[in-house]
Amino acid sequence: MDRNIPASRILGTGHYLPSQVLTNDDLARRVDTSDEWIRSRTGIGQRHIAAPEEASSDMAAAASRLALEAAGLSPNDLDAIIVGTISPDKRMPACAVYLQQKLGVTNNCPSFDLSAACAGFIYGLGVADAFIRASQSRYVLVVGVELLSRVIDWQDRATCVLFGDGAGAAVLGPSDGDGRGIVSTHLYSDGSKANDLHIPGGGTLMPFSAEVLERREYYVRMNGQEVFKYAVRAISRAAGTAIESNGLTPNDIDWVMPHQANKRILDGVRQRCGVPKERFFINIEETANTSSASVPIVLDQAVRSGHVRRGQNLVFCALGGGFSWGSALVRW
Ligand code: ACO
Repeated sequence: MDRNIPASRILGTGHYLPSQVLTNDDLARRVDTSDEWIRSRTGIGQRHIAAPEEASSDMAAAASRLALEAAGLSPNDLDAIIVGTISPDKRMPACAVYLQQKLGVTNNCPSFDLSAACAGFIYGLGVADAFIRASQSRYVLVVGVELLSRVIDWQDRATCVLFGDGAGAAVLGPSDGDGRGIVSTHLYSDGSKANDLHIPGGGTLMPFSAEVLERREYYVRMNGQEVFKYAVRAISRAAGTAIESNGLTPNDIDWVMPHQANKRILDGVRQRCGVPKERFFINIEETANTSSASVPIVLDQAVRSGHVRRGQNLVFCALGGGFSWGSALVRW
C-alpha cells in the first residue's frame, strides 16, 4: 500500500543471537563441504545455533525486551504481538502466546504468528502499521524469530550450510506527524512456487508417520536455483517499488536492509536496484540466513552501531518460501 503520511513509526529495536557459533570448518567436519565452497557460493562464514534448552520464544523474548527498553515501554503497554516465524515452539498454539507469557504481558492483547517465511518481519510490519492506522492498536511488537537449526536436514549439504538461528524485534507506535515512520509496505505472494521452498511433511497433507521420518520429509526442502533466480528479480523489484512509489530515486535511499538470503542473491539485487553498493547493510558472513529474523537483526545492529540517523530513508526487502516477498520504506 502506498502512503505518504506515516501513521506508525518504529520506537525501539532489539536482537538476539545465540552464543554458540558453528563455523564453516565445524560444519565441514559433519557433512561433505568446505569453507571455500560455502563462502564462494553464499558469503557465509558462520552461523549461531540455539542451545538445546532454548526455544524460539526464548530468543524472541530476549530480542523483545531490548526493543521494549529502547522504546521506553513496559510489556503491558503492548496492544498486539505479531511473530513472523516458520519455526515456532509448537504447531499450536502460536509462538506469540509463549512470547506474551515470557514477557509477562497480562493484558490479554491479541498475539499471533504470521507465516511468510523470510518475509515474515516485513509482513508483520505491514499488519502492525495497518492496526495502528485503523486505531485498533497503539503499540505493537513485531518479531522475526527462527530456530532453523531444528528444521533443517543436517545430512543435506545443499541446505544445512545456509541457515542460522536468531531473533529480531521492533516496537511500533503512532507516528509524531512529522513525516517519519512507516511510509509504505508492499507485500506479495506467488503460490505457484509453493513447492520450491517448503517443509513437505508434518502438516495435514502429509502427517507425521514412520515413512515421513524415514524419508526426512519433515525438514526444509529447496530448489536452490529457482529460489536464486526468483529472489534476485522479486527482491530488487520490490525494493524499486518502495522507492519509486514514494517519488524517490535510488540516490535518496540511505540504507537498504535486505533479507540476508545469500551474498550472491544480494549482489544481484544490488546490481539491479541502483542504490550504491555501500548503502546495503550486510551481515550474512557472521549470521548466515536467519529467515524472518534477518531484517530486524540487521536493523537493530545498524541502529545500535549509530549507522542510522533521524530522517534517513531505509528500505527493507525480503523473499522466502511461498514464494512470499515484500518491501517497506521507513523514514527514521
Ligand atoms: N558443499 C559442497 N558441495 C555442495 C554443497 C555444499 N554445501 N551443496 C551442494 N554441493 C554440490 C552439489 O552436490 C553439486 O554437485 P554435483 O555437481 O557433483 O552434483 C554442486 O555442488 C552444484 O550444486 P548446485 O545445487 O547446482 O549448486 P549451486 O551452484 O546452484 O549452489 C546454492 C547452490 C548455493 C544453494 C544456490 O543454488 C543458491 O544460492 N540458491 C539460493 C538459495 C538460497 O539462498 N536459499 C536461502 C533460503 S531462501 C531465501 O532466503 C530467499
